[in-house]
Amino acid sequence: MKGIVFVELIRMAESVMGEAAVDDLLDKVELKNDGAFTAVGNYPCRELLKIVDAIGAELNAPIEALHKRFGHWMFARFVEGYPIFFDGKEDGFDMLESIENEVHVEVRKLYPEAELPSFATERLEGDLFKMVYTSERPLHHFCHGLIEACLLHFQHRSEIQMQERHVAGKFCAEFLIQKVA
Ligand code: HEM
Repeated sequence: MKGIVFVELIRMAESVMGEAAVDDLLDKVELKNDGAFTAVGNYPCRELLKIVDAIGAELNAPIEALHKRFGHWMFARFVEGYPIFFDGKEDGFDMLESIENEVHVEVRKLYPEAELPSFATERLEGDLFKMVYTSERPLHHFCHGLIEACLLHFQHRSEIQMQERHVAGKFCAEFLIQKVA
């Protein structure tokens, strides 16, 4: 997993707990590189999961909610860092549709070692949108946050339902997104 994701997770934690508390926390978590992450490095996803678990334990906060919050944080970084991907998108559904065949395709070209999920999307009747997440990594709550932030960015009122699906050897979740007028 790209170092930028770790760097942003740590920045988010620092914004909540302060730098010193995050330093202490990283000292306590068993990490291969002692918690020194650089944006250009690559690190195992399980280390990210360990850090989120440790933040959750420290703050006494549910892990799923932290992953989701991190999705919101990361989405804001994407908007800032890669505005080109947002050009020409009419609404949140357009944006979500473009992740699999456009955004993540470009990400893979830039960073061949990136570990990305795959998405299947479908527009259903009545302003309903289906997005199915499949990944080797259990980041569906993070994904939930990204989707929520994306819809907010395009100023939609919407309701999102997430259901985990069982697929052998993978993590899979189905998101049903209903636009609310
Ligand atoms: C709402 C829109 C988006 C969704 C739902 C989404 C979803 C995800 C998810 C769930 C992951 C975690 C990896 C996994 O679960 O296997 C991920 C990773 C990533 N995404 Fe996206 N993404 C979105 C937009 C973007 C944008 C706009 C960029 C801009 C470049 C981007 C770049 C990346 C990068 C760099 C990673 C990390 C890959 C790695 O760690 O190796 N994504 N994305």
